[in-house]
Amino acid sequence: MSNQNIEQLQSTDRNTVFHPSTHASDHAHGKVPVNIIQSGKGIYIRNQAGTELLDGFAGLYCVNVGYGRTEIADAIYEQAKKLAYYHTYVGHSNEAIIELSQRIIEWAPDGMRKVYYGLSGSDANETQIKLVRYYQNILGNKDKKKIISRDRGYHGSSIAAGSLTGLNLFHQAFDLPIDGILHTLAPHHYWNAEAGMSEKEFSQYCADELENMILAEGPETVGAFIGEPVMGTGGLIPPPEGYWDAVQKVLNKYDVLLIADEVVCGFGRIGTPFGSHLYGMCPDLITVAKGLTSAYLPLSGVIVGDKVWRVIERGSEELGPMGHGWTYSGHPLGAAAGLANLNILEKENLTENARDTGAYFQQKFHEYFDDHPLVGEVRGVGLMGALEFVADKTKKQRFDVSWKVGPKVSAACLEQKLIARAMPNGDILGFAPPLTITKTEVDDIVQRTKIALDAVADQLSKEYSWKG
Ligand SMILES: Cc1ncc(COP(=O)(O)O)c(C=O)c1O
Repeated sequence: MSNQNIEQLQSTDRNTVFHPSTHASDHAHGKVPVNIIQSGKGIYIRNQAGTELLDGFAGLYCVNVGYGRTEIADAIYEQAKKLAYYHTYVGHSNEAIIELSQRIIEWAPDGMRKVYYGLSGSDANETQIKLVRYYQNILGNKDKKKIISRDRGYHGSSIAAGSLTGLNLFHQAFDLPIDGILHTLAPHHYWNAEAGMSEKEFSQYCADELENMILAEGPETVGAFIGEPVMGTGGLIPPPEGYWDAVQKVLNKYDVLLIADEVVCGFGRIGTPFGSHLYGMCPDLITVAKGLTSAYLPLSGVIVGDKVWRVIERGSEELGPMGHGWTYSGHPLGAAAGLANLNILEKENLTENARDTGAYFQQKFHEYFDDHPLVGEVRGVGLMGALEFVADKTKKQRFDVSWKVGPKVSAACLEQKLIARAMPNGDILGFAPPLTITKTEVDDIVQRTKIALDAVADQLSKEYSWKG
């Protein structure tokens, strides 16, 4: 692309495109770079200038099989030629969605029965909220509709799913969260545990906090709990030891449904088919998206377990068909992309690669960054990882937010042609590369990250006389 073309496109973008999670005024006035991504292959993407960037975050932790997979493009093309669309209302179906549903149930933890389809994680979680209401109404539990989520949880950014999200950025000026959605403590041992608390003790503490909330609200008013097996956008935080066991005991005691939001963990990212498998979770409902198609087309799913499904059937006997559906539920093109994606994941053993190369990734990160002066915590599981930066490691003191350390490190990584994401809740750098990554590519990420961290540490010493 010529420089003139690039400038023209960038200018048109500034004038016409309303970008998500972007500083509107800075973008419009040229203070946010407009990066036009042109192509991708494997774990790399190429921008308008032809520069190759190593994508350490797989887009938004979704391009799990890597870029440029012609098998998926071909499957979409073939399906589009045969049947680009027909709806799935009133029992209509298509071969691709039938096959995909069966495959998803095989991937999912035991006890799952049916899959309802949408297009995004947010709309899938909207469906979850409606299903909780429907389920409780059919059972005659008219007041049991509140949903407990967690501070720093991320479940989308629509009105209701955005309310489940526990990040202020997604609430401010939108009058969120809506009534009936509550947030309990984030299971982040590093910041939230009291001094001397073991991980196991902290897990019990989180479960006690949850129980106290349920009791304070009245167990007859609490219908469901939602959580990501490993917190994603809130900072890539694996649960402390024993967390899900302790939480599930409380949920069972008060007959509260468990919704596992597997939008990031599902389909292999942490080295097991779903995050629920790794942590022994027995969800009643599961949300999937991202890794289901590796983002080659938008597709999400709500996987409904036996217990809820039985009540849905009962509901239809009492009320007739459920008044819920999207035009694009069960879209054949998304289904074709999903099937081709699952074929790749299975044929190339990418879940196993996420486990093994993921373990190598975690080991290297600890080796290189545990003692780095900027880094307070190195954490992660499988191919999800984060570095959290602190001003003082011994005193566990955060950096002044105005120093923007997270974004600075992310920018320094970009100078090394590495994409690592500055997470929105603290000075946190997130990594979640495609599941196809090799150990050599992990070494490359570590080297580039090390150079970036050293450069920012140097810059902070010069600018702020920071000593580390
Ligand atoms: C765990 C989780 N749930 C839901 C969502 C929302 O998905 P979408 O952005 O497709 O609406 C996300 C997005 O990052 C997510 O990470």
